[in-house]
Amino acid sequence: MIAEQIPEGMLGPLLQGRVAMVTGAAAEQGIGCAIATLFAAHGAAVAVVDIDADRAADIARRLGTAHAGYGGDITRAADCERLASQVRDELGPPQVLVNNAGIAARRAFLDIDPAEFERMLQVNVQGSFLMTRAVLPLMLEQGRGNLVFISSTAGQRGGGVFGSSHYVASKAGMTGFAQAIAREFAPRGIRSNVVTPNLIKTDSVREMTPEQRSAIEKGVPLQRSGTIWDVAGAALFLASDLSSYVTGATVDVNGGFHIR
Ligand SMILES: NC(=O)c1ccc[n+]([C@@H]2O[C@H](COP(=O)([O-])OP(=O)(O)OC[C@H]3O[C@@H](n4cnc5c(N)ncnc54)[C@H](O)[C@@H]3O)[C@@H](O)[C@H]2O)c1
Repeated sequence: MIAEQIPEGMLGPLLQGRVAMVTGAAAEQGIGCAIATLFAAHGAAVAVVDIDADRAADIARRLGTAHAGYGGDITRAADCERLASQVRDELGPPQVLVNNAGIAARRAFLDIDPAEFERMLQVNVQGSFLMTRAVLPLMLEQGRGNLVFISSTAGQRGGGVFGSSHYVASKAGMTGFAQAIAREFAPRGIRSNVVTPNLIKTDSVREMTPEQRSAIEKGVPLQRSGTIWDVAGAALFLASDLSSYVTGATVDVNGGFHIR
């Protein structure tokens, strides 16, 4: 029958038996936490990674005993190396890495000083580079691996809701980096893809006034801002075998706000 021809990895749960590391996953209302939660619901053993070790441990505990929380700063090479080996030793070698941890700031160009610019690039670009550099060898040993980068619509169109030039530069840089990894490592079984969310209802968005939010939402063809689950769903697609022939791609999670 035709149904029997469906590849096993495309039948749920979609991440059964996989180990997935998600950075910046300790903010309960944040995108990383939703990704970690959805991945766990699809059978992955999840490493909840965050600079806030206590919150990471708490989220992991609430996800269940198959998961673990890890404290580490993605801008420090030694932390990234330690995180990769701890996860390998405690949960098993990871097949999935989601580079989600990031910072944002609303700032006019002429108000950005060099130190702020450097910090933005350090967390959003160099942090993703350092985590990827630490984890990729473990994936190459297995002959398979899957990288998902949480970038932003801002990096595609010169700015978004909070898009200041240093944030835009960092998110465009992150996308280019993910594409380069896709090209270089595809022959060795590694896929690398990008999710570009627009306005997502996280704590930062909740701080906006209802008027500010509705003004922005009017410009979105789907007439609403996104939820953390909208982004998590796209990440699950890219992390699982549902997207087995997809690499170097960017999945826009923007309600039609930016259609290319
Ligand atoms: N919220 C949005 O509307 C939106 C839109 C587009 C893209 N994004 C991107 O999605 C990602 C998550 O956004 P969010 O709104 O959920 O953010 P958030 O601030 O709620 O969560 C980010 C998490 O990253 C952690 N973190 C920050 N610096 C770190 C470091 N150096 N090392 C380790 N962990 C660190 C924080 O502790 C926090 O738990 C970010 O990369 C952001 O740029 C968000």
